[in-house]
Amino acid sequence: MQRTSAMTSVQPDWENFYPRPISEKIPFFSKDGRLYDCLFAQQFNRELLNHLFETANKLKTVTHRKDGADHVSSLLSDKRAMLYFVQPSTRTFMSFLNACHIMGIKTSEIRDTTTSSEVKGETPEDTVRTFSSYVDMIIMRHPAPGFVEKTAWLMNRTGRPVPIVNGGSGKDQHPTQALLDVYTLYRSFAGEIDNKHIVMVGDLKRGRTVRSLSYLMKSYKGIKLSFVSPKEFRMESDILDFLRRHDIPFTETEDFRGVMKTADAIYMTRIQDEHDKSGESKAVDYSPFHFRQEHLKEIKKTCVIMHPLPRRHEIELSVDDDPRAVFWRQERNGMWARAALMAYIFGVDKKL
Ligand code: CP
Repeated sequence: MQRTSAMTSVQPDWENFYPRPISEKIPFFSKDGRLYDCLFAQQFNRELLNHLFETANKLKTVTHRKDGADHVSSLLSDKRAMLYFVQPSTRTFMSFLNACHIMGIKTSEIRDTTTSSEVKGETPEDTVRTFSSYVDMIIMRHPAPGFVEKTAWLMNRTGRPVPIVNGGSGKDQHPTQALLDVYTLYRSFAGEIDNKHIVMVGDLKRGRTVRSLSYLMKSYKGIKLSFVSPKEFRMESDILDFLRRHDIPFTETEDFRGVMKTADAIYMTRIQDEHDKSGESKAVDYSPFHFRQEHLKEIKKTCVIMHPLPRRHEIELSVDDDPRAVFWRQERNGMWARAALMAYIFGVDKKL
């Protein structure tokens, strides 16, 4: 694969590179004008999103038949991927693993640093570079903000880079979750995401899914966002500034009932107390930010109820039976959206 001039030019050291605006950094993570490392939601534009969604739709359809599934699993049968997930995950890990299997990619995994040579004092950077000796792609979830990006940056400076895919990094980004979230909107609204009112609810301060989803909204016209959260967990100012810069109107409120009536999509999230420094989540009453059975009669007939999952109590179990509850479908969409992304990164998307 030919490398772009941006990647082969002299690059600054990490400390100078990391604080740069993401728009300036994107070329370092692209090759031949295509996304190569998938690190930030801002790397997706409308054209690429539509292409990935159509690719995911094709994958779903083609693999229904055995001959189709066999064809798809031959497309990347010469590739191997490492899943390095050192922060807990069920669905991101499982959906990437199964997306690899759909595409024929062979996989290996580390899910606990105590089983890697990091316990002998090897740096995480050296550990990840070691994977690239054996595989053609590294898919990562890591608790440290910026570490996935740093890995991609380091790899792109070696003579043997492999694509790095961000499966969730610290509190900052979860770009493939945003990809599957928008794919779910795309399928729910027959491709018409423009002019929708999207309500995000819960711990917006520490939820990386709502951050990445907010970034993707710049690809659509006439979007209106409502952020519903306890005052302690309001959306961070960098996201609000991004929305202002892109003329995306938003409101912030604690009145969930007040905004749900006009919502086209309600995106619920759980409290992210794993990020607590000293048990601060316990002091917050989260119950006004729950979706209950009684709310079903308040919302539009066409509204969809989403959740990146896992959930605790923020959506009552009985809501699952309502056809507007699409979060289980959303979870399955993740596997197809991620398979489409891998097909694109390895350049076999046109062979479907
Ligand atoms: N939505 C999501 O990232 O789920 P997991 O933490 O289970 O991967």
